Amino acid sequence: MQFRCRQFAAQDKRIGLVPTMGFLHDGHLSLVKIARRYSDIVIASIFVNPAQFAPHEDFDRYPRDEKGDLAKLKRAGANIVFIPKVQEIYPPDFQTSVAVEKITGVLEGESRPGHFKGVTTIVAKLFNIIRPDLAVFGMKDFQQATVLKKMVADLDYPIKVIIAPTVREKDGLAMSSRNKYFNPNQRKEAVCLYHALVFAKKMVKNNKISDPKLLKNRMIRIIKDICPAAEIDYIAFTDPVTLTPMKQIKPGCICSLAVRLYKVRLIDNMKLL
Ligand code: PAF
Repeated sequence: MQFRCRQFAAQDKRIGLVPTMGFLHDGHLSLVKIARRYSDIVIASIFVNPAQFAPHEDFDRYPRDEKGDLAKLKRAGANIVFIPKVQEIYPPDFQTSVAVEKITGVLEGESRPGHFKGVTTIVAKLFNIIRPDLAVFGMKDFQQATVLKKMVADLDYPIKVIIAPTVREKDGLAMSSRNKYFNPNQRKEAVCLYHALVFAKKMVKNNKISDPKLLKNRMIRIIKDICPAAEIDYIAFTDPVTLTPMKQIKPGCICSLAVRLYKVRLIDNMKLL
């Protein structure tokens, strides 16, 4: 992979990278299409990264469909798919990691200690192997996108990071490989995150509520009305770059939330103002 990428670079080809964990849906394919627009060679990677899963999380049952993924990536315009083996990425004596500090200690980082260290380490490795000119990530994982942008800035990677809008199902549920864990009734209730976000955006836009505490309480009620079994991990109103909580909703505010529905943990977010 390194050898091929150095050849492309020597030919002045612009390389676009789309890192994924596979089991691709239209959200991933939208990232490939964006990379296609700005690059000569589009490389997608498929690697279910053990380092970003805690022992109790779903690494072992994370859905996989390599054959289907390859066909989808080809149709979306990827030129190369990089599918390394776990032993190649993390040989037995592997002992180095990349960690972004402050902004990984909140939200997802608070609920999933060690998760972002796993993400930044694998993405740094992919950047070093492929040396792309640009990389595309989804806004659905808003904190991940913010953390990776920080890593690129702090470590001087000459890579443009593009954050692509969240792709949603018809009813508004953000596309995610984990949606396949739901049965049809549970799947219907999973729309509660989206409804709560849309409500918050509407309240802020119409100047009805600007107090995060009040908004949060109303959002919890909406989520519980649609899915009484929902367990809310967090609902946060933060600055998009520093991820510090906002006491009053101000321009740039991102509302992000994590909710566990029937043992499936979903995240979503929306820019409120
Ligand atoms: O967003 C994902 O699918 C993963 O976190 C990523 C960026 C591919 C790193 O494993």
